Amino acid sequence: MKILVTGGTGYIGSHTVVELQNRGYDVIIVDDLSNSSIEVLDNIAKITGKKLLFEQFDLTDQDKTKGFFRKYNDIKGVIHFAAFKAVGESVNFPLKYYRNNLLSLINILQGMGDNAIPNIVFSSSCTVYGQPAVLPVREDAPVQKAWSPYGATKQISEDIINDTSRSAGIKGILLRYFNPIGAHESAIIGELPIGEPNCLMPYITQTAIGKRPFLRVWGNDYNTPDGTAIRDYLHVTDLAKAHVIAVERMLNETMKQNVEVFNLGTGNGFSVMQVIESFERSTGVKLNYQIMDRRPGDIEQVWADTAFANKELGWKTEKSLDEMTASAWKWEKELAKKRK
Ligand code: NAD
Ligand code: WQD
Repeated sequence: MKILVTGGTGYIGSHTVVELQNRGYDVIIVDDLSNSSIEVLDNIAKITGKKLLFEQFDLTDQDKTKGFFRKYNDIKGVIHFAAFKAVGESVNFPLKYYRNNLLSLINILQGMGDNAIPNIVFSSSCTVYGQPAVLPVREDAPVQKAWSPYGATKQISEDIINDTSRSAGIKGILLRYFNPIGAHESAIIGELPIGEPNCLMPYITQTAIGKRPFLRVWGNDYNTPDGTAIRDYLHVTDLAKAHVIAVERMLNETMKQNVEVFNLGTGNGFSVMQVIESFERSTGVKLNYQIMDRRPGDIEQVWADTAFANKELGWKTEKSLDEMTASAWKWEKELAKKRK
């Protein structure tokens, strides 16, 4: 059973490919390596001991995407990760984000429709909720106007899949991720942020390893118990496993609607200070940090209502926050060895 994983050499994609291969699926990755490296393919093979197919091209290229689907018309399902994801960059270069994230999705849906491939799992984000009025946030909470072009591409992509499902017989599972962190237990694959990280976890580990002088904690005057902002952090392997379950739900035709939406989080919110404390506890490493003003555009707090995913997918996260922070540290130390 062949599954196409777009963006499969990226952070979440690579972990998902491992879980798919572990479950016996044949995987074909399409990635243009714009934000990942070719070595990831060998690293995946080191973990699973299995072969996969790889095609390197830009999914915004309509002719190449068409040709690809013609060539591999035995694909049974698509997991579409390929996208640009830097929120700040998307504010400065909105067209780059709209072009990449939307054209690639459109080309993929076209290729699927033309070749009678009905199933797509799509990487959406909790960013579609903005600051929810009710917490934990449920899937039926209103989608709020996106503050960044990146967030807008996720909302529009959800709409595109919904519309396509009505007219072209496409079935979609939209997975709204909360904050994925950590790395595979082998520390052979993990997140590879280019340049200065934007996200909390890689910033913490790069500070601890000495690449950054200190972590800037963006604001401690939020209306939260310790004043720092709250997010729902989940381990990337837990997240990856949900994709396998979603694919099987499609293949086994147990979906209850043509398009389904699931929150993927732990259901627990942790503050920035709690993440720092967890990191120090799980690694024994003391972290330098300084409290700064709030980061523009940040919301105060969000965590997932996971009842629907728990019940319908039979999925729930397994890793604790301390396991997540320890695994991120193990990966950072592995990267440091490679850099030497
Ligand atoms: P990533 O950048 O590590 O992986 C994305 C991959 O897609 C990269 O390997 C990149 O080279 C590839 N790619 C990008 N544009 C492409 C194109 N036009 N053609 C072919 N390949 C292309 O990102 P990730 O963290 O693994 O995220 C995967 C998906 O999950 C993205 O859609 C992202 O928006 C979404 N998401 C991520 C997070 C997060 O915190 N990491 C949270 C919510 C949603
Ligand atoms: C988490 C918390 C920061 C860095 C982003 C995207 C979102 C989704 C996930 C893709 C916040 C604080 C961070 C630092 C800090 N991605 N922080 N110092 O902002 O929740 O979400 O990634 O869809 O769309 O916006 O994640 O890891 O950047 O921040 O204090 O150096 O850590 O202020 O409270 P965020 P994050």
